[in-house]
Parts: sequence; C-alpha cells; structure tokens
Amino acid sequence: MLKDKTIILGVCGGIAAYKAIELLRLVKKVGANVKVVMTRAALEFVGETTFRVLSENDVCTGLFDSKESSVRHIQWASESDAVVIAPATANIIGKMANGIADDALSTMMMAVTSPVLICPSMNTYMYENRAVQRNLDILEQDGAFILEPGTGELACKTSGAGRLPEPDLIFDRLVKIFCPKDLKDKKILVSAGPTREAIDPVRYISNHSSGKMGYAVAEAAEKRGGSVTLVSGPVSIAPPFGVNLIQVNSARQMADEMLGHMDDSDIIIKVAAVADYRPLVSYENKIKKDDNPTDSLSIDLTENPDILKMVGSRKKKHQFLAGFAAETQNLDAHASTKMEKKNLDMIVGNIVGIKGSGFEADTNKVKFFFKDGSTHDLPIMSKEHVAHRLLDHIIKRIKTG
Ligand code: PMT
Repeated sequence: MLKDKTIILGVCGGIAAYKAIELLRLVKKVGANVKVVMTRAALEFVGETTFRVLSENDVCTGLFDSKESSVRHIQWASESDAVVIAPATANIIGKMANGIADDALSTMMMAVTSPVLICPSMNTYMYENRAVQRNLDILEQDGAFILEPGTGELACKTSGAGRLPEPDLIFDRLVKIFCPKDLKDKKILVSAGPTREAIDPVRYISNHSSGKMGYAVAEAAEKRGGSVTLVSGPVSIAPPFGVNLIQVNSARQMADEMLGHMDDSDIIIKVAAVADYRPLVSYENKIKKDDNPTDSLSIDLTENPDILKMVGSRKKKHQFLAGFAAETQNLDAHASTKMEKKNLDMIVGNIVGIKGSGFEADTNKVKFFFKDGSTHDLPIMSKEHVAHRLLDHIIKRIKTG
C-alpha cells in the first residue's frame, strides 16, 4: 500500500522521538519515499543525521535551512501522499488546531492537503489537559486521524496515557489510510484459532492453529473500514488493532459467541479450527497416574456442535457466510461437500501438510470455491494477502448480489 508513496514524517520534541527512527525504517522498507521534518525541540532529542541517512533525503529543520528552495515546506506538502506526526507534542497539536504557522513543520501543515495521522505523546496531565483534548477534537473534525497514545510508565516517571504507540502500530495505522474503505458500514464476524477441550484442569485436546489466518482476516477487514468482532480461541499472537476481541476456550463457548453475534453481522467468516470432539467427561481434578492400575488409559469422546453448520442453517438472505476447510488431500471434493452441507456462500480450501501453508505458517496456499460452482486458485502468498483477496471476492459478490 505504501510502495512509491511520499510520506512526510513530522518529528517533534519528546523522549519518544527515538521511536520515529524505527517508524522511518518500517516505512522505507516497503518502498515509500520518506521526507522528515524535525522541530527545533526534536533536535534536542535525536540527531538530524540519523534521519537523513535512513530516509536518503534532506531533513527539513527550519523554514530557511534549504540551499535549494525557500519554499521547500510548500513543495514537500504538495508532494506528500500522507503525513504522520510522531511524536506529536501538545505544542504542534495546539498550533495545527489553531492555524499557527511559526516553524517549518507547523507552516508546512498549513499547506498539506493529503491525509494526516497524528500520534500524540506527552505526560498524562498534559494529554488530559482540556486544551489539548479540545485541540485534538478540532483536528479530528478537520479530518486528521488521531492515534490514541498507549498507557503505562512514562519518561517523567508517572504512569498513565501518553506513551507513543509502538512503531509497528503507527505503521499499521498509516497503511490503513491507503486501504480502500469498501467494508465501511459492514459488520464482520470472524472466528480464529483453535479450541481447547478439557480432559481435566491441566490437560486438553486441541490442534495446531496459531490464529494467524483468522487474525489476518480480521485485521484486513478492520483496515478496510469494517466493524469487526473476532471470536478467538487461545492463541499467543497480539490481537489486531480496533477489533472487538472475544476470547473463548472450548467449541461450545465459541458456538455461544458466534450464534450470539451472528444476527448482527453482514459477513461471517469462520477460520477457526474447531475440535470436532471433546472428552465425554471433563474431570474436576487432575487425573493421577497412580489411580490407574493398568498401563493404558482411554478417553471417551463426544461430538462437538458444528458451529458453522448451525450458523449456516440460521443465515439470513442478506448475510454472506464463508468457511475454511483444511485438507491434506482431495481438496476440491472435500471443500465443495462442506460448502454444500453447511449452507455456505463460499469456502476457502486450505492445503495443509505442505511447507509454507496451513497451520502456523506465515504464508498460505488456498483455493476459493463459490456456491455457483466457480473457483479461484491462488498461488502461495502471505496470510495478509490471502485475507485481502478473500475480502475482494466477498465484496464483489455482495455488490453483485
Ligand atoms: O490459525 P493458523 O495457524 O493460521 O491456521 C489456519 C487454518 C489452517 C486453521 C485455517 O486456514 C483453516 O483452514 N481453518 C479451518 C480448519 C479446519 O479444520 O476446518 P474443518 O474442515 O474442520 O471445518 C470446516 C469449517 O467448519 C471451518 O470453517 C470450521 O471453522 C467449521 N467447523 C468445524 C467443526 C466444528 N465443530 N464447527 C465448525 O464451525
């Protein structure tokens, strides 16, 4: 999304200014052209040279510091595809909200017409100050995107809101600016991860799902403007920003949440690897080896609810329902049968058991099957790309009815 885009990175004076270096690195890595504007105060915290070397561009530190052009701030503003200000201090927020232009960054911002992402970072009392909040409201009304600061221990040894979010989150929000908002006004319900079926308080039956595929779908849908609810089994990856995360353990808990949220959803995508069976008895206390006189132990299993089938049977006409099918063989036949049996609009056939595809991998090899009989085979690609291709197809089908 950022490839060949020109991004202006505004850096203000705050302890978190060092994080702008990592942000710059992330943005450069995906092929964007980055131009850095630093305030005088920023120069007290980090050196201009680092930004110049990493951005491979001159750094603008003052209105009159360019040998080539006296209107560089105007030129950069007009060239920009987006501006990100990180960290944004109370000072730049106040100036931008009130039309004050008295240095390179604030003057350039008067001339910017591209999207602006503001990442406030300051002491908690400063951040909560009514003037700062008022100014942020003004900037939001003016169309700027505000990334709320994180909470935690601050450099001033106080604790509260004001931490600059990590560079990868700022990068993520910058990418969102360039994503098509074709899921705006749509509610998307996604399930992800494995389920755990308890044998006793310390043991369970589960599978290798890491949640990566489902989380990628939820993240892509959020970036495309959707309102996303993510019902997730236990995973160790961070939840995507901006989604309503509901954590569950067992298939029965997942069923309750999916059925509870489905009526309010336009698109339902079931990526989770649900355990088909659970122990008939889940013991209250840990099973002790000493209590078993033989050298074998069997666990009786009983079938779990087929959540997708239940959702499929209750699905309304306006809702789009997609399932996933992880298969080691006969992908076409197995996936198509599941699509029909569970009353799906489409199913994503996922080849597992090959390198770089399926459980735990960062990439995936999938084939889309639609209820009208058409198919779409994708080459191996990142789970993020699979998620976007999946949403492309769903959106196209929703539009054409
Ligand atoms: O999480 P990752 O490590 O990234 O791995 C991704 C994945 C391989 C888990 C994912 O891409 C995938 O293929 N998910 C489906 C896994 C699966 O085992 O599907 P299935 O064939 O058992 O079930 C078919 C569909 O029915 C699925 O949408 C499943 O969510 C649903 N189902 C299955 C059983 C059940 N009791 N209830 C269900 O809702």
